[in-house]
Amino acid sequence: MCGIVGYIGPKNCVPILIEGLKRLEYRGYDSAGIALIYNDSSEVIKTKGKVDELEKMISNKNLIANLGIGHTRWATHGEPSMINAHPHFNKEKNLFLIHNGIIENYSTLKKILEKEGYKFISETDTEVLVNLIDRYLKRKNNLSTAIRYALNEVEGTYGIAVIYKNEPDKIVVARKGSPLVLGIGEKENFVASDVNALITYTSQVVYLEDDEIAEVYSNRFVAKNISDKEIIKEIHEVDIAIDEISKGGYAHYMLKEIMEQPESIFNSMRGRLLIDEGTAKLGGLHGFEDRIANSERIIISACGTSWHAGLVGEYMLEQYTGIPVEVEYASEFRYRHPIINSNDTLIFISQSGETADTLAALREAKRKGALCLGICNVVGSSIARESDAGVYIHAGPEIGVASTKAFTSQLVVLSLITLLIARKKQLSIIDGKRLINEIQKLPEYAKKILELNKDIGKIADKYFNATNFLYLGRGYNFPVALEGALKLKEISYIHAEGYPAAEMKHGPIALIDDNMPVVFIATKDAVYDKVISNIEEVKARKGKIIAVASEDDNQIGKLVDHVIKIPKTVDMLTPILSVIPLQLIAYHIAVKKGLNVDQPRNLAKSVTVE
Ligand code: M6R
Repeated sequence: MCGIVGYIGPKNCVPILIEGLKRLEYRGYDSAGIALIYNDSSEVIKTKGKVDELEKMISNKNLIANLGIGHTRWATHGEPSMINAHPHFNKEKNLFLIHNGIIENYSTLKKILEKEGYKFISETDTEVLVNLIDRYLKRKNNLSTAIRYALNEVEGTYGIAVIYKNEPDKIVVARKGSPLVLGIGEKENFVASDVNALITYTSQVVYLEDDEIAEVYSNRFVAKNISDKEIIKEIHEVDIAIDEISKGGYAHYMLKEIMEQPESIFNSMRGRLLIDEGTAKLGGLHGFEDRIANSERIIISACGTSWHAGLVGEYMLEQYTGIPVEVEYASEFRYRHPIINSNDTLIFISQSGETADTLAALREAKRKGALCLGICNVVGSSIARESDAGVYIHAGPEIGVASTKAFTSQLVVLSLITLLIARKKQLSIIDGKRLINEIQKLPEYAKKILELNKDIGKIADKYFNATNFLYLGRGYNFPVALEGALKLKEISYIHAEGYPAAEMKHGPIALIDDNMPVVFIATKDAVYDKVISNIEEVKARKGKIIAVASEDDNQIGKLVDHVIKIPKTVDMLTPILSVIPLQLIAYHIAVKKGLNVDQPRNLAKSVTVE
């Protein structure tokens, strides 16, 4: 999704903006641009394509400015092009705007402005907004006031940063639905859509909330609500080291993040296991434990990989707590008429904590009075802040667009919530201790699986030319099959389907021939024998079978073409391990195909538009 960065202070902002934009590249984008104001002059430079391209264009110009804004655009209105790239500006080219989000009523506003003589050169909703601000600027003669008036007419979502040549002492930012953060420095200040763009320069940040506008000067900032009332904002300290957001010697962020899993899995459980009591301690849920345990129903809502984590959570919570669980796509949940009772608990899972649909689903559930919990990775993100209570997964920054370590950490946290609630209900201390014992072994087990990286790479080499893949699993491994298929399609562009293994014979079996790779997740669990029967069915039709199996399985090798053996753990925790080979298969296939693993086409890391 689009990225925003801005700087005001004594330094030359050009390298700061470029570095900030590079740190936002992981979000996915198709064009980039900056606007600068210096002395009595201004400059806008934009390009279709990557920030490297923009940097080359700038390097020929020897630009120095103390005020500037930069943007990476992920096209929504109008194709990726130089003209559609941000910043957008008014006719006089003295007012510059960058925007994340969507102005839903832009065509109505455009018609009004056109009647007043405004002309448009791009196809974007953002150009409409900058001209709407311009219209009020001409009437009110004050940038913040003009922005406030303009935003009052806007329907939709926005995170914006605006600079104006006649008021060169400030950047004005505003937020509704798209994240915005201020970075507080020494006699310099920053704005961004994501703290990653700022942390080279400052760890002090201020999160803007919806309907807030801030004037950011080099030595102070003033935040107001949409009714122009000043508000006091808290300054937060963010704890992200630069090396956490660099590749650390790996060819890709995705590989680094896959390889980090022993550590990220450990970080998700660190300090959260009460071994003697056979339970978990989750500070973020303190005071809510009984209410959750007494829920009549739990609804988990999320998107993409986080939704797959939710499906595993459903199996975990129903098995161990006896509470009925439903899992909902946030994008569906937000618009239908979900029946939510006051004694339901809702869990919203989101790596970024900014996914527009998940955030909207959370707001809808809050309106209906249910207890809303968040499971997020990004500290201080919107979903984390707006939930009633929640748990951070502590996986560390995830930069690769394909989610890997966040998924396994989400599952660790779901297992801890399950343990905590199950111990409040029927789970005995002995069984609680047994689970803890297995949870503690997960980092070591993950490490063992990662040692198979080269072997998995060789299997991937055999199938990178395939055009279709099937992923099959049952029970706890069914969501893993979905996740394996999603990983493959998003980074290798190979069509892949995940199915419950038994469903295969109700349709997908028609696809199987000797060209069709089928990945079975066939660990020794409660449904192992059933999965073996499904493997036989594929084998009978000459499908090529890759199986993820338990290390003590000496039989499966005779049935399938390739086996990847993983350590045996309890069923509930198996997905945390069985997904790792699937992440590696997808990674190696995409690399072999020469694709951009970290920034796959059309995808965004944080989907902040619906
Ligand atoms: O940040 P979130 O967890 O809310 O993101 C949800 C999905 O957009 C995300 O999981 C997406 O499916 C990933 N690209 C999967 O790898």
